[in-house]
Amino acid sequence: MRLTIRDIQKMAADGIPIPMLTAYDATSARLSEAAGVPMLLVGDSLGMVIQGHTDPIPVTMEHIIYHCSIVTRVTDHAFVVGDLPFMSYNVSPEQALENAARLMQEGRANAVKLEGGEALAPTIARIVQAGIPVMGHVGLTPQSVYKLGGMRLQGKDVDSARQVLHDAQAVQAAGAFAIVLEAIPAPLAKLVSDKLAIPTIGIGAGPDCDGQVQVFHDLVGLFEDFVPRHAKPYVQLAPLIRDAVNQYVAEVEAKQFPDADHSFSMKPEILAALEAEGA
Ligand code: KIV
Repeated sequence: MRLTIRDIQKMAADGIPIPMLTAYDATSARLSEAAGVPMLLVGDSLGMVIQGHTDPIPVTMEHIIYHCSIVTRVTDHAFVVGDLPFMSYNVSPEQALENAARLMQEGRANAVKLEGGEALAPTIARIVQAGIPVMGHVGLTPQSVYKLGGMRLQGKDVDSARQVLHDAQAVQAAGAFAIVLEAIPAPLAKLVSDKLAIPTIGIGAGPDCDGQVQVFHDLVGLFEDFVPRHAKPYVQLAPLIRDAVNQYVAEVEAKQFPDADHSFSMKPEILAALEAEGA
């Protein structure tokens, strides 16, 4: 049975750390769920790791809905959060509600995530009032990369750290069931986590959050364009894949692949009959 926000909140309340991962396709979603990941994020990081952009700005509702529908189709236990992409929720609370509803209906997401703090509280409240669970996201908010002047650590000085705390509190007060804290100093993430009742899920936010979220491709060493400092590749798949593809190319060029083990045979009389027909 699929987990719910109550299960996720109970894990945090019971002190059970929550390992969350991004997923965009059937294979990685199945592997992650089978490995015990309780919460999957169809994140707009797909703009970088799937689509090859340098930031998530070009990602659209259609893209997220497409990937979300795949991840929810092939999983039956993990709680699946769909990311609302750039400008799909910033125009008005009504626009946000309409797009959150699309992500639930067409993508079959179990909840939506959106970036922003105090300024987005009325939007979060509107979506939650309509019955859709919302995950907040404060600190480094990648959709604001151009305003922030890059993917930078947030909350480094008193004003900025206070703002991160206020943003997180506003997101909780608006009704979010959990919140991502991205790229903030570990002691600030601990302070925020101590002050909030909802689960905090960190990425580049140190060990004291209730859970962690990582981009799947970073975790398995598949994305080599840029490896963020907070990411830990548990395996380096990219060189393994390069080796495998190199071998394949060499074997095809040398006519060693496919060999008899990877080919299909035919009864000689069938071939003989064809040849007799002059085929
Ligand atoms: O899109 C994403 O993958 C995210 C995580 C980095 C939290 O928002």
